[in-house]
Amino acid sequence: MRSTQVAIIGAGPSGLLLSQLLSRHGIDSVVLECQSEDHVQSRIRAGLLEWTTVELAQEAGVGARMMREGLVHDGLDLAFANGRHRIDLKGLTGKSVLVYGQNELQRDLIEARSDEPGAVLWQVSDVAVHDVHTPAPRVGYRHEGRCHELRCDFVAGCDGYHGVSRAGLPQGSLAQYERTYPFGWLGLLADVPPLNPELVYASHARGFALCSMRSSRRSRYYLQCSLEDRVEQWSDGRFWDELRARLPEQHAARLVTGPSLEKSVVPLRSLVTEPMRFGQLFLVGDAAHIVPPTGAKGLNLAAADVRVLSRGLIEFYRSGSATLLAEYSARALGRVWKATRFSWWFTALLHRFSADPFAERLQAAELEYLARSAAASRSLAENYVGLAFDET
Ligand code: APR
Ligand code: PHB
Repeated sequence: MRSTQVAIIGAGPSGLLLSQLLSRHGIDSVVLECQSEDHVQSRIRAGLLEWTTVELAQEAGVGARMMREGLVHDGLDLAFANGRHRIDLKGLTGKSVLVYGQNELQRDLIEARSDEPGAVLWQVSDVAVHDVHTPAPRVGYRHEGRCHELRCDFVAGCDGYHGVSRAGLPQGSLAQYERTYPFGWLGLLADVPPLNPELVYASHARGFALCSMRSSRRSRYYLQCSLEDRVEQWSDGRFWDELRARLPEQHAARLVTGPSLEKSVVPLRSLVTEPMRFGQLFLVGDAAHIVPPTGAKGLNLAAADVRVLSRGLIEFYRSGSATLLAEYSARALGRVWKATRFSWWFTALLHRFSADPFAERLQAAELEYLARSAAASRSLAENYVGLAFDET
């Protein structure tokens, strides 16, 4: 039997960032992860950080490499009707974003947690949460062939969409709001220079395309694809030809192609779970909500949950006050729904749905409006860089 203050299930960005932040305030936690360290480290995910996420990583003591190697972006391009329109994020909101791969942040967090032996247990199995409605919840798990139990004050369910935390809750104890999209994203990573110094979000009759990057030598591209598509059906050549076809000539002319390092297809989904707290169990990040990647909100929402929860736990262990913890679900969901709305709106604006000429005309009109209206551009920009935290 082992004891800790906070049992954390899942060593993704949510679990590790929470564990690291708590340790900076002398609060003990144990992270239980079912995959190996290498597997978790090798997962290719998104890579765009709101500045509040950057600040939280700095507060957790894992911001140094991010600030050295991350790319500060003050704007983005919207590409449509064979033209481009730059959204001046910095000019419209005073804020920038940082391009830094999620797997790089994951690496920084794993390194920082490895300073505390036993803080993260990899390759555990049969994780089960018990007694969350008592002051002394327990988490059972198997590790290195033996069964163990962790006694704790609180459990943080940071185990993603497929985790046990949410799945283990009694039927009817939570509400789920879901929207699925009739298409996916085919992503490709390649060691080629990006075609544009800032991200390009392209709307085209053939479907959406996104031109992103990881560095000045490594690029990340995405194409809207059908949910039936398989990676094997997409040779590198087919990918590059299709990308070129969806970009305005001026962008397509600057496209440098090369062999892919990684290709993967992801479905698009919006999902929100309410509430995000059940007794001593707190749901965090993808365990509670999923957004389509269009607005790059997945990682930033996870970090926002960690910010709200860590402040509540720190206050609880400092003063005994449980006020912030009691407000966790409402505060987190306030931000989750706004980011869910923005991600849904940005996805609806830029993707091709089934042949619907009226909807296509509306999309074209909205893109035109965005290109001409400072008010509309500012609304997009302030949601994209991340809304201010309501900490009143
Ligand atoms: N027991 C232990 N660990 C588990 C279990 C389980 N039963 N189920 C899942 N896990 C682990 C997964 O292996 C994964 O490492 O929980 C972790 C969850 O991590 P993420 O899915 O990355 O979720 P989160 O930390 O909330 O990060 C959200 O990740 O998927 C992106 O777009 C998403 O950017 C967002 C971010
Ligand atoms: C990425 O770089 O992977 C990325 C960037 C912005 C998005 C989605 C993904 O909206």
